[in-house]
Amino acid sequence: MPVSLTCTSCGKNQKDTTLYWRCPCGGLFDLVFEPAFHPKKLAGRQHNLWRYREALPVKNNRNIVSFGEGFTPLLEIGFGDKSAWIKQDQLFPSGSYKDRGSTVLLSHLKETGLEKILEDSSGNAGCSIAAYSALAGIGCDVYVPANASPSKLAQIEAYGARLHRISGSREDVAAAALRAAEKTYYASHCWNPYFFHGTKTFAYEVCEQLGWKAPDTVVLPAGNGTLVIGAYIGFSELKNAGIIRKMPRIVGVQARNCNPISTAWRKDLDYIPAIIKKPTLSEGIAAAAPVRGKQILDCIRKTGGEMIDVPEQTILPAFRELAKKGYFIELTSAAIISGLKIYMRKAGKKELVVSIFTGHGLKNRST
Ligand SMILES: Cc1ncc(COP(=O)(O)O)c(C=O)c1O
Ligand SMILES: [Zn+2]
Repeated sequence: MPVSLTCTSCGKNQKDTTLYWRCPCGGLFDLVFEPAFHPKKLAGRQHNLWRYREALPVKNNRNIVSFGEGFTPLLEIGFGDKSAWIKQDQLFPSGSYKDRGSTVLLSHLKETGLEKILEDSSGNAGCSIAAYSALAGIGCDVYVPANASPSKLAQIEAYGARLHRISGSREDVAAAALRAAEKTYYASHCWNPYFFHGTKTFAYEVCEQLGWKAPDTVVLPAGNGTLVIGAYIGFSELKNAGIIRKMPRIVGVQARNCNPISTAWRKDLDYIPAIIKKPTLSEGIAAAAPVRGKQILDCIRKTGGEMIDVPEQTILPAFRELAKKGYFIELTSAAIISGLKIYMRKAGKKELVVSIFTGHGLKNRST
């Protein structure tokens, strides 16, 4: 399975996938990779995300860094007189869907023989990359906002990663990580295209769980877009291989208090505008300047989807409503479900809508 990198700015192709996390021109890389996956290969394979082995860009099985993650339940949950199907990704080993990306990225990095990496995060990606680094035996520095949820900071340190608490905004944290990336490999879940080839397994699992059928609509967070872009890649690969017939519409959710992508969508802009970010309970999707913002917008537009802004005062009630049904999720996940509820009001009676619980409730500061 040949893999190469293509720059989204200058268009150059980089054959050597080893030690580049961005193009020398500064542009973002995407992977050029054609999976050789077919559902008939699945017989007898374990129910985790590595069952889609031919779709995952890691050369040697020996390098796979895995806790047996994935294939999370897809459960039908009622909202008013309609229902949606929700992937239970709060059940991943480190407590969030980020493990989809980390298992593929860390397997790739193990393949390169790297001994040390760094990551920056609002919390969950840091927890996840730290867990998989521990398993891989790779040293890990994690840059986080000083005010991130204490449970996430404790989790990162427990895995043995070196924590750098940065005061200021999430964007200040990213800037500190970029400076450190001059010396240490930047295993960024936003920049590194291998991460997106892990999050794409959301699409593979959903289609398999629906009997190799695409949903009509997926409602996903749109923070740094690891799920929106990952889902777009995954559904596109399945469609190109003739395994599903159509692309689902991708609906992105942001908090109204931090909504650069939905602002661009609503105003029909072809760039991501600067916004004034206000505090929000949904820290995981509070990305004011997402590096792949334009790509996220393109995924929404190309699939005929839309962006939804959720008012801050709807997040806690959505959390409480789900907890009363027995689902214990992060407040960021509750924001996405608040967006799903807005979408469900206008969804068709027969429309097959899929969404996701992205993080576990034990990560919350307090509720
Ligand atoms: C719980 C949770 N949900 C959603 C997101 C946002 O995801 P994305 O980067 O895919 O937009 C995050 C990111 O940190 C998160 O922690
Ligand atoms: Zn370039």
